[in-house]
Amino acid sequence: MDAAVAVQFALAVVYPRAGNLGGGGFMMIRHPEGVAALDYRERAPLLAHRDMYLDSAGQVVEGLSLHGHLASGVPGTVDGLLRAWEAYGQVPNLRTLIDPAIQLAENGFPVTTTEAERLNRFANDFRTHNTHPIPFLKDVAWKEGDLLVQPALAQTLHRIREQGREGFYNGETARLLLAEMNRGGGLFQQQDLDAYSAQWREPVKGSYRGYQVYSMPPPSSGGIALLQMLQMLEPYDLSAMQHLQAESIHLLAEVMRRAYADRAEYLGDTDFVEVPVEALLDSTYLRSRMQDFSPLKASKSKAELNRELLHLPASFETTHTSVVDARGNAVGVTTTLNSNYGCKVVVEGAGFFLNNEMDDFSIKPGQPNQFGLVGAEANAIEPGKRMLSSMTPTILEKDGDFFLVLGTPGGSTIITSVLQVLVNVIDFELSLDQAIEAPRFHHQWLPDELWYEQLGFEPEVLRQLELKGHQLKAFDYIARMKAIQRLPDGRLFGAGDFRQPDDDARGY
Ligand code: DON
Repeated sequence: MDAAVAVQFALAVVYPRAGNLGGGGFMMIRHPEGVAALDYRERAPLLAHRDMYLDSAGQVVEGLSLHGHLASGVPGTVDGLLRAWEAYGQVPNLRTLIDPAIQLAENGFPVTTTEAERLNRFANDFRTHNTHPIPFLKDVAWKEGDLLVQPALAQTLHRIREQGREGFYNGETARLLLAEMNRGGGLFQQQDLDAYSAQWREPVKGSYRGYQVYSMPPPSSGGIALLQMLQMLEPYDLSAMQHLQAESIHLLAEVMRRAYADRAEYLGDTDFVEVPVEALLDSTYLRSRMQDFSPLKASKSKAELNRELLHLPASFETTHTSVVDARGNAVGVTTTLNSNYGCKVVVEGAGFFLNNEMDDFSIKPGQPNQFGLVGAEANAIEPGKRMLSSMTPTILEKDGDFFLVLGTPGGSTIITSVLQVLVNVIDFELSLDQAIEAPRFHHQWLPDELWYEQLGFEPEVLRQLELKGHQLKAFDYIARMKAIQRLPDGRLFGAGDFRQPDDDARGY
């Protein structure tokens, strides 16, 4: 936990497009007594209301839930990290975990090629949404090796180090945050900051071919959808259908379609709406869900998507960290500002980006969000409610021992990517690095399309999928996994994803 928390504070400095103080996340924790789940998802401000992104004619105002102050939910990261550390940390002083981040912010660090490219790509958005000078903007383009120095962020981290939670949700940081909201027409008040609290949740649990699976419950859809898909798959002999062949891809896609249809209808923040978790995971229900499955023919998603504002693929970013120690204690943490650099607003004087997580609500029934996901009443905006997520940090055990921790960014494709790495390891018996490198695909019910990574698949396999009735759509890449597995001899094997050159795996 100490390592996981220290990494999160450091990522808030060195990975500003997704690492954060102004966002939220989810953490799965395997500790000596069991597995815990921590929800530090953002909440809708208390002044939010269900139609806040619609005009007087009831039409969606394009971009309002994505860019600028109104797009931001109340941040949960600082409260979440401190709670996680208080519950499971071993180092006696928070300083040990925050000081490295403060130094990185104060002294600067050389940006990577991908960060330089990203900072350049979003420079105009930064200018649009910030009137004060920010360290992310320069007169000339960023290039690899340039130093990014963030003195205001260092001060904020310093206040958190000295005052804990109060160093963010009260006092100077809160004052700066509320002043920023006033300037930009945002909705948070001190009451929102006072009311924010991370929540311990009961993990979603199930088994798959002898492995025990623990994942994130609502307000993430990840755990329920993942376990639904695994249970729908279990009666089939997936390995006999062979890896990346039309038969296995088709079965997986049909399982994905069904889980995402349920996601759209039933899932939301359980503090506000009743989510029928047991019914959704009931084995009789899941068998009945597959009754109309045909190995020959793609099903049809029985709803139409409002395509008017569907701009896929959006450019988005999130980050996942997996940590395991020698005793099999494990942390999987996925955190985000939602889009790259969130809503693009930097809190003046406090130096951190705010999220644009409000777009994860269903802002209007049938209206796709930036990932093309639709939702219903269960995920409508309400004051103080948490928006539904797809983030899926997941831990597996085998015979009571730690087996695997994994997770990834990727918006709606997170859950299906976690699924594929699991079946690649368990059914297709690939090593973890092969399981991660294998080309990925994705179906999310709506749009009724099978997405696939364009470099990975045999043309003949794609042709057979089309013959079954799938509408195919190529993407450059889908998700970027980070995972650690315990090998049969007890050694740990960590793997990042070749899709993201900044990813890495280290052992100490
Ligand atoms: O919570 C969610 O599901 C999204 N806000 C996650 C965003 C994301 O993964 C963007 N990443 N690549």
